[in-house]
Amino acid sequence: MSNVAASATPSVSGFDVPRHVAIIMDGNGRWAASRGLPRSEGHRRGVEALRRAVRAAGDLGVKYLTIFSFSAENWTRPASEIRDLMGLLKRFIRNDLAELHSNGVRVRIIGEREGLSPDILGLLQEAEELTRANQNLTLVVAFNYGGRQEIARAARRLAIEVSEGRMTPDQVTADAIGGALDLPELPDPDLIIRTSGEQRLSNFLLWQSAYTEFVFLPVHWPDFDRAALESALSEFYRRERRFGGLAAQAGG
Ligand code: IPE
Ligand code: IPE
Ligand code: MG
Repeated sequence: MSNVAASATPSVSGFDVPRHVAIIMDGNGRWAASRGLPRSEGHRRGVEALRRAVRAAGDLGVKYLTIFSFSAENWTRPASEIRDLMGLLKRFIRNDLAELHSNGVRVRIIGEREGLSPDILGLLQEAEELTRANQNLTLVVAFNYGGRQEIARAARRLAIEVSEGRMTPDQVTADAIGGALDLPELPDPDLIIRTSGEQRLSNFLLWQSAYTEFVFLPVHWPDFDRAALESALSEFYRRERRFGGLAAQAGG
């Protein structure tokens, strides 16, 4: 099959489930506005959609699920909304961490940690440490995350190596940059899903998405469910991934 990455996981349906699915969870505010509800209610319902997404992805055999939960640019929103979003993240970790752990989910975080409040930092660290040895599904939470900022962090890490004489400038290759990102061992996403109908990346996984397939779903994030994930996957299965080569060679 043409869309099979070398590492794809075989699924019961006979298709090869993408190893890494990433989601831009968008449309909470519009979901709420269309029902005459406050935006905070959209975010609250968005957390329920996240629970469904994690469960469905795990059941389907996805190995890595990355979710865009708060962007580096989301700090420009009103303070009250930022408070709501921070509160939800804290509650999500406090309420759901034990269950994620018992389901074998490993939690990883990408994004800038510097400047985060100590309580958030502590919870993020607790989630990563508790679930460190889990192997069923890796849930990567992109929090205070921007793709450009991540690439800049990687460049800075390499610049330090060069300035301290541990690397030469000609060793600054694409592989070296990839290896200096927030989570170097994370495979590139096979599929990025964005809900709400918007068709843009909004600074998500810029480096990693060079050959990612994009699926834009018309549903707002609070309405996301297993059927929505399955519809994105069936669209993914129709794609032909070539990685710059010829169709017959793709995927080996
Ligand atoms: C996604 O929903 C949640 C975050 C960005 C944190 P939005 O809050 O962006 O909802 P819309 O796009 O305004 O509808
Ligand atoms: C992207 O959504 C960020 C998250 C989903 C966390 P936004 O709603 O912030 O993106 P724009 O502003 O519509 O591009
Ligand atoms: Mg939005």
